[in-house]
Amino acid sequence: MNIGIIGSGTMGSGIAQVAATANCKVKLYDTNQEALNKAKASLEKILLRLIEKGRIDASEKSRIQSNISYVDRLKDLADSNLTIEAIVENLEIKQNVFSELEGYVSEDCIIASNTSSLSIASIAASLQKPERCIGIHFFNPAPLMQLVEVIPAIQTSKEVLEKSVNTISDWKKVVAVAKDTPGFIVNRVARPFYGESLRIYEEGIADFATIDYSLKTLGGFRMGPFELMDFIGNDVNYTVTETVFKAFYFDPRYKPAFTQKRFAEAGYLGRKSGKGYYNYDDNGKLISRHSELVSESHDKNLLNKIFNRVLVMLINEAADALFLNIASAEDIDNAMTKGVNYPKGLLAWADEKGIDWCVSKMDEFYNEYHEDRYRCSPLLRKMNREHKTFF
Ligand code: NAI
Repeated sequence: MNIGIIGSGTMGSGIAQVAATANCKVKLYDTNQEALNKAKASLEKILLRLIEKGRIDASEKSRIQSNISYVDRLKDLADSNLTIEAIVENLEIKQNVFSELEGYVSEDCIIASNTSSLSIASIAASLQKPERCIGIHFFNPAPLMQLVEVIPAIQTSKEVLEKSVNTISDWKKVVAVAKDTPGFIVNRVARPFYGESLRIYEEGIADFATIDYSLKTLGGFRMGPFELMDFIGNDVNYTVTETVFKAFYFDPRYKPAFTQKRFAEAGYLGRKSGKGYYNYDDNGKLISRHSELVSESHDKNLLNKIFNRVLVMLINEAADALFLNIASAEDIDNAMTKGVNYPKGLLAWADEKGIDWCVSKMDEFYNEYHEDRYRCSPLLRKMNREHKTFF
């Protein structure tokens, strides 16, 4: 299969590696020659590291590399069966590239975008044949993260959806099909992990380290929310939150936190700037906690309170995504465990905690705050009445 990748930055070069490893012939295109050189050099490094770790041998390395060619003209992608675009997150620029590309490729070439925040419908609208357009959303780093969200637009044909799902599954990825709505699955359902943790901090209930400690020890999350925001970058994470909030017509559930905005404004971006919620050395290693309080708090009540509050908000978000048919229950749970390494699927977690527990927790918060942010999903309420579980 011939794959054309547009944009050889972080995502494009990772996707090229995935496709080439699955034995596709890949053409990686970029307007910037330096970006192409960098992609080539970084693949060489990555593959050498994989040899060192014993994951691949030298012949596998040269097979992968020979499957990729680096091109600097869009028309070089003319023989592609599938193209995946991973250029700047700008609708107008993407639309221009898509309409030019359509002039070169064959009638049945699938034209996909790796966008995180634009609607697939708006990108597809730039094509003569919008039914060939689809969202294929990888996670960073693409070769390591198992999940790929596949997002049909309202214009997308069934055949294009089916072919896309099959191709991505052949690349040994876990596919979750999502509706073309803001944040798709992961970037929508994961919001409370950050947002509710920031709110708990802003209310003065606990400091960053205690909140992280609670979610790691009681929840089994690999990283606490503040460690994770430092890892992602407070600028990047804030922008995603703000984009989702605006895209949902300012639904208070997705409201960004001033704390994070100020951190981003101050340049406290996290690991990459040496300072975020914690401090880091030049290699990005944590050297000191930003706050004075000790993470190993023995106040079990407090730790439980924090964990339960963040968890139930995550469950509520996942249930609401199911309620609004964003994806199937299986895909929502897979998305969170394979896309962001959650220890358990949130809907399975809801079953384990009990739907009645989820409803009463949400109602407890709603009664306390009287904010729309804490409204319980109608699906949880209905399931509770009918004594149902998700699985
Ligand atoms: P990046 O900035 O690392 O790479 C973008 C590349 O596109 C650059 O090499 C640039 O030279 C090239 N480019 C820009 N305009 C172009 C054009 N008109 N024609 C050809 N090449 C062009 O960006 P990154 O992070 O790889 O993101 C790319 C896309 O993937 C965006 O849509 C982003 O929303 C999405 N995405 C990013 C993720 C991430 O964690 N970085 C995760 C999932 C999706």
